[in-house]
Amino acid sequence: MKRKILPDFDGEKLHVYNFDVLVIGTGVAGLYAALNLNEELEVAVVTKANIDESNSYLAQGGIAAVMTADDNYRNHIEDTLIAGAGLCNEEAVKVLCEEGPADIRRLIEMAVPFDVNEDGDLQITREGGHHHRRIVHCGGDATGRETTKQLGKIALTKENLHFFFDTYLVDIVTKDNAVFGALVHTGDEYKLLRSNNIIVAAGGCGQIYRYTTSPLGSVGDGIAACARAGAVVNDMELVQFHPTTLVSEGKQDRLFLISEAVRGEGGILRNSKGEAFMKDKHELADLAPRDIVTREILKELDRVGDSNAWLDVSSMSEEFFSTRFPTIYGECKARGINVPHDMIPVHPAQHYLMGGVKTDTDARTNVKGLYCCGECAETGIHGANRLASNSLLECLVFGRRAAQHINSNFIPLTEEINEYTITTEKHNRRLTLEEFENIQSTVKDTMSAYAGPVRTPSGLNKAKKILSDISTLLDDVILETPFEFKVFNGVANAIMIVDGAIARKESVGSHYIVN
Ligand code: SIN
Repeated sequence: MKRKILPDFDGEKLHVYNFDVLVIGTGVAGLYAALNLNEELEVAVVTKANIDESNSYLAQGGIAAVMTADDNYRNHIEDTLIAGAGLCNEEAVKVLCEEGPADIRRLIEMAVPFDVNEDGDLQITREGGHHHRRIVHCGGDATGRETTKQLGKIALTKENLHFFFDTYLVDIVTKDNAVFGALVHTGDEYKLLRSNNIIVAAGGCGQIYRYTTSPLGSVGDGIAACARAGAVVNDMELVQFHPTTLVSEGKQDRLFLISEAVRGEGGILRNSKGEAFMKDKHELADLAPRDIVTREILKELDRVGDSNAWLDVSSMSEEFFSTRFPTIYGECKARGINVPHDMIPVHPAQHYLMGGVKTDTDARTNVKGLYCCGECAETGIHGANRLASNSLLECLVFGRRAAQHINSNFIPLTEEINEYTITTEKHNRRLTLEEFENIQSTVKDTMSAYAGPVRTPSGLNKAKKILSDISTLLDDVILETPFEFKVFNGVANAIMIVDGAIARKESVGSHYIVN
């Protein structure tokens, strides 16, 4: 999509707030980046909602990092490269696996409450694709919530961090291929947050799918804004589908995840006849990499004629299950599933984006002063399929590296300004709320139908046609509210995914195409 969101002002003057650095997003990547910036820098931390609404916050399983003497970072590199199906950037993977343990130790110093055993040693679990136990976790299955809460608590005490809640990133403003600031919308006014250093950590785009584990805000707004600012966006077709989300009746904005750690502790996938179908499919059986487990589930459902698979957790005692997985235990019980005695009905759903804004190992994009980290970035560490629990680690390592790069290469404001006149584009057409809702719904259905875990060229071409028609319509539409911006950004991300999927002819990792 060519146009910027740019509101239809008439040369209106914007109130300007001058900062040294802007951080967009308050998941683990954004908060950790903000906390790693020099405290002399005045930083605006912008979130479209609150600290407790992000993909990081929902992460259950844990953070992968080598924390024991019987494992080493070379094993972690190898598992990451195997899961990534040949498309990883090895240099970035090396940085991730080598530096990650120090960031975990730093989190421990920051009082992030990792689970420990009676001797005070870290509890360490396993997930898909890992040949060793190397996942640390908090609150049993609430790693994201506990990590984000603690980082958020510390960040809120820092005098140099200025939080802008309920503030939507509209567009990144550039001058001569360098960032100049961010146009944001808050309440019902626009502001220009001026800075020559911007870190975008705004998460993925799961909500452009009907079936996703991502929260409502995940529409790829950071990715779309970076693309409009001239940043290179790569490999958007590489979308990860988690094998096990809870099947449950009724309309849900997002699906509840059954962490891979449940299989790490002995859960086994079965069909409706009770057969454990993963055991002959891969040397790691139920703990094969996610793309493989997802496809095997779908094949098995087809073969047997089932509508969902079953996760058998009966090898665990109720005491163990409820302590180790309190969130999953509570959610299953609330939905009438008597775990660990009853099997849990599960189905794959969209979970994560491996592609995104292309960055180097300092989280730099091709636009001067623009950094990107977390799910919206493509560092290349995930290749075509992310290894379980490498995502929070990526947030830490590359969030910190973005901050460190700014600390030593900070670009000061050349002049402080108080007002700025924005160059606007004129758009002529208004859509009703219902029309925007219909577009959003069509995008979700189109992506789930044609750009899911198994794709066909004809399905992708149908998706392209539907999305191009929507894009043409939106080119002349007036966009005024965060909901309208979200719909627009969602369409932009959907187009990038479908275009990427059409261009990539071979199946690789999560991009599985059948003719
Ligand atoms: C999970 O707990 O299965 C999800 C962790 C991840 O996405 O890596």
